[in-house]
Amino acid sequence: MSTKTDGINTITVFGAGLMGAGIAQVSAQAGLKVILTDVTDKALENGLNIINKSVARVGKKQQPDDIEGFTQKVLANITTTTDAEQAVASTDLVCEAIIESIKVKRDLFSFLDKKAGANTIFASNTSSLGISEIAENCTEERKALFGGLHFFNPVPAMKLVEVVRTNKTSDATYQALFDVTKRMGKVPVACKDTPGFIVNRLLVPYLLEAARMIDRGDATKEDIDIAMKLGAGYPMGPFELLDYIGLDTTQFIAEGWVDKAKSGVLPEALVAPTSSIADLVNKGELGRKSGKGFYDYSNAKK
Ligand code: NAI
Repeated sequence: MSTKTDGINTITVFGAGLMGAGIAQVSAQAGLKVILTDVTDKALENGLNIINKSVARVGKKQQPDDIEGFTQKVLANITTTTDAEQAVASTDLVCEAIIESIKVKRDLFSFLDKKAGANTIFASNTSSLGISEIAENCTEERKALFGGLHFFNPVPAMKLVEVVRTNKTSDATYQALFDVTKRMGKVPVACKDTPGFIVNRLLVPYLLEAARMIDRGDATKEDIDIAMKLGAGYPMGPFELLDYIGLDTTQFIAEGWVDKAKSGVLPEALVAPTSSIADLVNKGELGRKSGKGFYDYSNAKK
């Protein structure tokens, strides 16, 4: 059987937000043909704006004599559409980076399963949902072509991609996903389809425990941040990182894990609630993006 795992030349990216724009950009820079897809023209425009600014920054470093030429060459690899069916009519890889909702993702993939070619590989960039759960309504054949590509924010700068395999992902699919991330200049690591994959599985419990230390009055946030930077060599303290990621995002991941802990997939202590995060989220103080979280950014440069 000839499969698209022989080589990926065209990628369809669903979602032109923060992550989708980044994935489209690094794919286009690698010379792949990119079809960027979202539900509205406005969202596509937003994605293209993000890409334009970011590619120009890359061009400044890589081709300072001809930034415009560099930008044009990368952008020439990207087309956009709001027509999901057309977007997958002839593509080697679908990479989904839409909102983090199991229902919306499942519905999208179930639709695409019927519309895409029989050999098209499907991947999700979810940070907190299970890849098998997202693929649930696809055919068994597609499940063999289904994996996870978990990029990190900001995509153009962050080297890591967690390549996730379910117990149905075929070896050829997995290899193709690995290979394409390397072409994008990334460093792939192999993960099973377990909660949080590698990075979030270790990072989220650490961040939650830092917040619980404040709940208990063990230390101040400032001292915890200093301690982890100077004592553990971390570039950011846990509260600086929480504010950077967004407190709502961290809380959302933790809440999603509560059910998994109840069913024994995760230790319950890892996801025990923390009032300091919940209180800030309730007040709308979500971190850098809202101007305030554990720290105040109202005077910081955007
Ligand atoms: P975002 O909110 O910036 O962008 C999501 C985009 O998806 C929006 O433009 C929205 O219009 C679009 N969209 C919604 N439904 C759609 C559909 N049916 N078809 C096409 N487009 C649709 O979100 P962001 O931050 O880019 O996250 C996207 C995904 O990436 C989520 O699954 C998230 O968990 C994951 N992720 C996010 C990271 C982050 O730091 N923000 C890091 C790694 C993964």
